[in-house]
Amino acid sequence: MIGPASGRASLHHGKPYSPVTTVPRRPPADVIVPKVALDSISLSYKTTSGERLLALDNISLEVKAGEFLCIVGPSGCGKSTLLHLIAGLHPQTSGNVFVDGTPVNGPGTDRILIFQELGLFPWLTVGGNIEFGMKMKNIGKAEREEKVQYYLRLVHLSKFRDSYIHQLSGGMRQRVALARALATDPDVLLMDEPFAALDAQTRDLLHDELERIWAETGRTIIFVTHNVREAVRLGDRVALLTFRPGQVKQEFPVNLPRPRHMEQPDVARTAGTILDCLRTEINKSLEAEYADEKNR
Ligand SMILES: Nc1ncnc2c1ncn2[C@@H]1O[C@H](COP(=O)(O)OP(=O)(O)OP(=O)(O)O)[C@@H](O)[C@H]1O
Ligand SMILES: [Mg+2]
Repeated sequence: MIGPASGRASLHHGKPYSPVTTVPRRPPADVIVPKVALDSISLSYKTTSGERLLALDNISLEVKAGEFLCIVGPSGCGKSTLLHLIAGLHPQTSGNVFVDGTPVNGPGTDRILIFQELGLFPWLTVGGNIEFGMKMKNIGKAEREEKVQYYLRLVHLSKFRDSYIHQLSGGMRQRVALARALATDPDVLLMDEPFAALDAQTRDLLHDELERIWAETGRTIIFVTHNVREAVRLGDRVALLTFRPGQVKQEFPVNLPRPRHMEQPDVARTAGTILDCLRTEINKSLEAEYADEKNR
């Protein structure tokens, strides 16, 4: 059975004994620092009319090292915004984002965001795309070559190393994006609806591959999706966000054995429970949209 690689979690260590400190204060050895922690995060955007729109409201969430967390919620509830904050691409209005206990103040090579649009470079080959991030990190040629070969094998694209992006299928492009992200050695993979545009068979294959890669590499994954069954298929836990402003409405641990399949009855049952909860939020979002239309 595949499980989170909790062994990669770092531990708090107390300061060494000092004669000045009469009672050394040591945090208990079993206090594990979460890989990612969101502490009372709120974020408001300035709209074009000059008003402030509260997108995220007081979100607190912890993700363990090696955990696979899925986030679901109605459209516009702030899921992408949340990933952007963790990636350090946008500052929150209040609260803190921590990675390994350290506040996030900007982008870092320990985290990588895979957008739905992928952002692959059409002028580079598959190999060139995978190598790109490593070049930016000034990794030497020999190590780059070794890693390109390793990640091409991992995503089953060794034969396509010299192909250009337009010569690949949608599923293959997703795998290149995944290999390129993994090659920069991030601890945390942030994935924003990466498989939404794929056909069901390709998506199922990529689920299997992502799960295998996650198990082999022990990365922490935060995965946003509209598809509740996909969230249950992949996640150790599913966090459900409310309609705007996004708050964590409920968290659902998924204890079903792996590997799972989207069509499995127990996956469908668990997804059904989450969907009941999500429907209330989707209805609120639709009501708000209709109200906006009427007021125009
Ligand atoms: N740069 C921005 N400026 C102003 N408002 C923004 C900006 N980015 C997002 N928003 C607003 O913040 C809210 C949350 O947007 P976000 O893209 O995070 O939602 P989402 O949950 O990812 O939606 P979807 O499921 O449709 O992708 C939306 O109301 C959106 O209009
Ligand atoms: Mg989004």
